[in-house]
Amino acid sequence: MTLENLLLVNFKNYKDSSFNFNSRFNFIYGDNGNGKTNLLEAISMLCYTKSFLQSSEIECVKYGESEFEVSGSFRNSLNSSQKVAYRYSADENRKSVSVNNEVLGRLSSFFGELPLVVLAPGDLKLTQGTPGDRRRNFDIIISLMSHLYFDDLKNYTRIVKQKNSLLRDNLLTKKYSNSKLIDLVEPWNTELIDAGIKLIQRRAGFTTEFQEYMNINFHDIVGDRYQPIISYKPDIYEGFNNGTFDVINIRNRFENKITEFYPLEVKRGMSLVGPHRDNYVFTMLKNGNSFDVRTFASQGEHKTFIVALKFSEYEYLKNKTESEYKGEPILLLDDLYSELDRSRKEKITNLLPKLNQVFLTTTDTGYLELLKQNFKEDELSSFNIINGTQKAAG
Ligand SMILES: Nc1ncnc2c1ncn2[C@@H]1O[C@H](COP(=O)(O)OP(=O)(O)OP(=O)(O)O)[C@@H](O)[C@H]1O
Ligand SMILES: [Mg+2]
Repeated sequence: MTLENLLLVNFKNYKDSSFNFNSRFNFIYGDNGNGKTNLLEAISMLCYTKSFLQSSEIECVKYGESEFEVSGSFRNSLNSSQKVAYRYSADENRKSVSVNNEVLGRLSSFFGELPLVVLAPGDLKLTQGTPGDRRRNFDIIISLMSHLYFDDLKNYTRIVKQKNSLLRDNLLTKKYSNSKLIDLVEPWNTELIDAGIKLIQRRAGFTTEFQEYMNINFHDIVGDRYQPIISYKPDIYEGFNNGTFDVINIRNRFENKITEFYPLEVKRGMSLVGPHRDNYVFTMLKNGNSFDVRTFASQGEHKTFIVALKFSEYEYLKNKTESEYKGEPILLLDDLYSELDRSRKEKITNLLPKLNQVFLTTTDTGYLELLKQNFKEDELSSFNIINGTQKAAG
């Protein structure tokens, strides 16, 4: 899949700008604060029907205006074109997404139609941030690949919410006797365990498959000196080994832990057991020693890990969806090169030509020379962004 063009009207610092993109490589450069990230954000809004930065719609309306529109045409692997338009009106607090001029009823049904992988400076929180940051990241990838997982996740989230609201309500009002409360919570626990097992199974399977992709991409960037390891740590079973999924064992552990934590759940008024508290742990083997990326990695090591992770996500999605009409994902690389040494920059640049369509932002035009060595002239377009307008430079 490729994005052929993009129109931005009153979107952040863009008043009315249009772009015609290269189907291979788009080099987007400009000084700080001119709108490079905003441009990528607009692309993500069309693909995900929300912003990868999780901006609210109202933050995206250009200062002093009351509505924005972002639209673009995507071409899929069957060579048919789809025009996607995202509109938001602040006055009516209403957003609408249309595909080929037909407004979508349920946005969630569109999720995954336009596969997209994003690398952004904020992704440093994947290695440095909370379990929730990592869960969210992998939930997006698995959901892009599988609508079933997306639906299971929504269902699970709904169950946790309902259980939470019951426990919170009881904490505030103390309106239920002990036995009444147990009667009310139990059906939610049954549902939570059934739905939760599906998520755990899927996450475990994903992690095992994904590790292979990580090994290859990491090796391509740094050679043999390091080996990255992604371990899935389900909340109900910290000692879980990727690849050894046993439903009966998992169910037993789930039931036991939920029983064990019940008094604490009542005391805190919230649900404390299940995949909404899962974690993924990143470690690296270096010179025979294993170290936790979160605690011990240098800035450049964090960045390398994340770049390898994003390239792996790209290839994983590509392989998982290649039999479908969607074609390969689009890759957004916001500020790819920062924090990396020269050798890693070059190695990563050598990997770019095997990708489908890439959008890369930078403040440094020097990288253009490096890229030109890797792409044919007609495979690379560059765009100079100055205060929300573009000067096509090639
Ligand atoms: N709703 C809005 N209306 C108008 N301008 C906005 C709005 N939201 C953000 N901006 C402006 O957009 C600019 C930031 O753009 P962006 O983050 O895309 O910059 P950038 O080119 O990626 O910079 P850097 O190189 O620092 O990453 C800021 O100057 C900000 O004031
Ligand atoms: Mg930026």
